[in-house]
Amino acid sequence: MAQFNRYIITAALPYANGPVHIGHLAGCYLPADIYVRYLRAKKADVKFVCGTDEHGVPITIKAMKEGVTPQDVVDKYHKLIGDSFAAMGISFDIFSRTSNPIHHQTSQEFFLKMYNDGLFEEKETEQYFDPEKNVFLADRYIIGTCPKCGNDKAYGDQCERCGSSLSPDELINPHSALSDAVPVKKKTKHWYMPLQHYEPWLKEWILEGHKEWKNNVYGQCKSWLDNGLQSRAMTRDSNWGIKVPLPDAEGKVLYVWFDAPIGYISATKELTDNWEDYWCKEDTKLVHFIGKDNIVFHCIIFPAMLKAHGGFVVPDNVPANEFLNIEGEKVSTSRNWAVWVNDYIQDFPDQQDVLRYVLCSTAPETKDNDFTWKDFQDRNNNELVSIFGNFVNRAMVLMHKLCGGKVPRLHESFMDESDREMLKEFGVAKEKIKNSLESYRFREALAEVIEFSRKGNQYLQKNEPWILASILEKLNNNEKHSKYPQYE
Ligand code: MF3
Ligand code: ZN
Repeated sequence: MAQFNRYIITAALPYANGPVHIGHLAGCYLPADIYVRYLRAKKADVKFVCGTDEHGVPITIKAMKEGVTPQDVVDKYHKLIGDSFAAMGISFDIFSRTSNPIHHQTSQEFFLKMYNDGLFEEKETEQYFDPEKNVFLADRYIIGTCPKCGNDKAYGDQCERCGSSLSPDELINPHSALSDAVPVKKKTKHWYMPLQHYEPWLKEWILEGHKEWKNNVYGQCKSWLDNGLQSRAMTRDSNWGIKVPLPDAEGKVLYVWFDAPIGYISATKELTDNWEDYWCKEDTKLVHFIGKDNIVFHCIIFPAMLKAHGGFVVPDNVPANEFLNIEGEKVSTSRNWAVWVNDYIQDFPDQQDVLRYVLCSTAPETKDNDFTWKDFQDRNNNELVSIFGNFVNRAMVLMHKLCGGKVPRLHESFMDESDREMLKEFGVAKEKIKNSLESYRFREALAEVIEFSRKGNQYLQKNEPWILASILEKLNNNEKHSKYPQYE
């Protein structure tokens, strides 16, 4: 088992094309934050990086729909998302953005190094093209009728009504989302990364070397690797994104999934001059917190890129969570079925801890899970307030009444069996919580905190120190006006 001397913890860069919802928090940002707070409490050397992912087709589509520029869209959501995380106490060391110059430069250098090392294949293929607007169309930009359900606003990659994945060829009456023109096919050149070349290394590294990864993560990796990897284009035709840094690449940008994860490195560069310690030294532990839809990018494509480029550490773990449904239904942005974090903060100002508690205790760690407001209320009332809150409150109040607000020295000779038992429980709980946190089982860690609080409450109930406290209080009050000495 390697010895790690520093940590770089990343949380997936959210797309800056909409607000974040509580599923994002539960799946990625909250567990990452809990893990980082635990490491900081241990005085570990840790950097926690995040930021917004500001390139890619969905952002340009959003801009088009709203009649604004992509820059307007990302500026708006970078601020909104950053504010939501800050309000929820997600304690990033930096919340950057992929539109920053340092990121453009870092991504271009990364690409060029791979290019100069001869690691890309140059290929010409036929892609859809809008002859009126003179631009290539990503599958998302082609709209037509879904062959499965008849929805006449299906996209070239997916029908949002029936959920089928589609290819543009399957659409009935396809037309461009930009101009209504019928798309034509046209040749275009791109740079591909032959992922199959990295297959033997990936198999060895993940399938042999990381059997401890969560079942959902390991399983997805295994199925990708068993099915065989293929070359994947790392560039796209677009005018929104990071320009391909080659002379014959007019109108070409880096594929968003090429540049976005490099964003973790650029954000670290922006944060600290000794960023290389965190990315290049073998005794660094890199952990990516993500949602399950990001697994292939963080476990296969980005590690292959890091390996290809050379000189970087690869992740030690990728604790991806499943999805959180709301009141029994899948989150849907288009149907506005979600609990948006910015709305929650407005409706429940100062109740961040309640949401953090509920989301951690119902986090979709091993399977999709359901969030309901009834459960939110029950967990708040029956666990957070009546068990944990009650325990902490009693302990604090009594410490003030009985011990002058300081944790008193232990008097071994005054201890009875129940005192000793309670102290032992304390040590056991601490060990269990540590183990759970270190293996990314946050629900289990929280359940142990509640269990320990329950025991603490029972202990207090049995020993009734408040009786002593109230006697002391009465005596002290009377004594203030009498000739007798005061009790402390
Ligand atoms: N923007 C992506 C999403 O929301 C996540 C990008 S993670 C990164 O699904 F590694 F690419 F940054
Ligand atoms: Zn459909």
